[in-house]
Amino acid sequence: MKKTLKILAYTVGTLALLLVLMLGYFHIKGIPKYKYHPPAEIVNLKVPRDSAHVARGKVIGTMHCVECHAGAEGKLTGKPMVDLPSMFGELHTLNITQDPKYGIGNWTDGELYYFIRTGIHKEGHWSPFMPQYSLLADEDVYSLIAWLRSDDPRLAPDIHELPPNRYNLLVKTLGNTLFGPPPLPAKPITIPDTTKHVAYGKYVADALSNCYICHSADILKVNSLVPEKSFGYYGGGMPLRNEAGETVPSANITMDKATGIGNWTEQEFIEAVRFGKNPRGGTLSRPMAPHSTLTDAEVKAIFTYLKTVPVIKNSVQRYRASVE
Ligand code: HEC
Ligand code: HEC
Repeated sequence: MKKTLKILAYTVGTLALLLVLMLGYFHIKGIPKYKYHPPAEIVNLKVPRDSAHVARGKVIGTMHCVECHAGAEGKLTGKPMVDLPSMFGELHTLNITQDPKYGIGNWTDGELYYFIRTGIHKEGHWSPFMPQYSLLADEDVYSLIAWLRSDDPRLAPDIHELPPNRYNLLVKTLGNTLFGPPPLPAKPITIPDTTKHVAYGKYVADALSNCYICHSADILKVNSLVPEKSFGYYGGGMPLRNEAGETVPSANITMDKATGIGNWTEQEFIEAVRFGKNPRGGTLSRPMAPHSTLTDAEVKAIFTYLKTVPVIKNSVQRYRASVE
């Protein structure tokens, strides 16, 4: 008996020591570097910069890039990521204005394309908290790049500088184990036919707007290559944060009548998604942002798609439980 206990104690001790050594190693090593190896067509990419591409890029960029990168004056000079779950520590976004030194003025179209898809910089460092747009149609990525080059005043060169991010042990451990950059899409991605409402709605929700990321259950169980495999897909409950650092769980937006939005009208849905209007009164809380650059048709398509998503019964303890 005594002997068994001794063996057990040694085993546990050895495992604990190995764990400490491994974490120490991750701590020193940091997030691994990746090979920067875009294919020739991406290295030589030159996206069209006509007004249609710029306008479409502005729609997508306003919904994503501006949300995370706009500083106090509205320019995309970077800012603290206050709404990130606190376990990831204090992180910030960077300057993506057209300044060649402090911003991204000297990045090529190909470098931007590769980064937007994979999060990998040309020096090989990988940015885990910059969303990786794996499912966005090629044309939509081109539009984003065209917009980044445009005369939108929010992108005008600015020399604001933020220090590089320092990651905590959790982020480093995740970056060495569970997480890494997605591969480039294996084949070209096209925007679905807008009259095919379900497929188009899925595209707008999952690829274009990333609704599923916030509206699933666990940030560590989000599947960004096959969104519908994310844990609690559209069932909500993810503990997000608002600008004051308070926890705001995401809502269940599956069609469950009791705990989701099964009783909502299409009009209520449009007003909630585009303008942040809460049908129970008042406004929806951040980080649920008004998606005002999406059109009614796009939001209707999301609603049609959500009607096909498996219903999840999940009663979320909401930030403001009562109607104001
Ligand atoms: C959820 C927040 C978030 C969104 C949305 C977002 N970014 Fe970022 N982005 C980040 C973070 C965080 C970093 C810093 C990464 C780092 O420290 O390595 C970053 C870094 C970058 C960089 C690298 C800058 C540099 O100098 O290294 C580029 C380029 C960039 N983002 C472009 C974009 C574009 C274009 C969009 C819109 C499609 C966008 N980002 C949307 C969070 C975001
Ligand atoms: C950055 C995270 C985030 C993203 C992205 C996001 N949401 Fe939300 N959403 C939330 C949070 C958090 C709430 C809860 C807000 C509250 O309680 O006031 C919410 C609430 C909602 C509601 C209200 C539901 C109810 O019962 O009150 C709807 C509808 C909704 N989101 C739809 C969408 C759609 C559609 C998209 C994509 C176009 C989207 N959301 C993208 C975080 C997000």
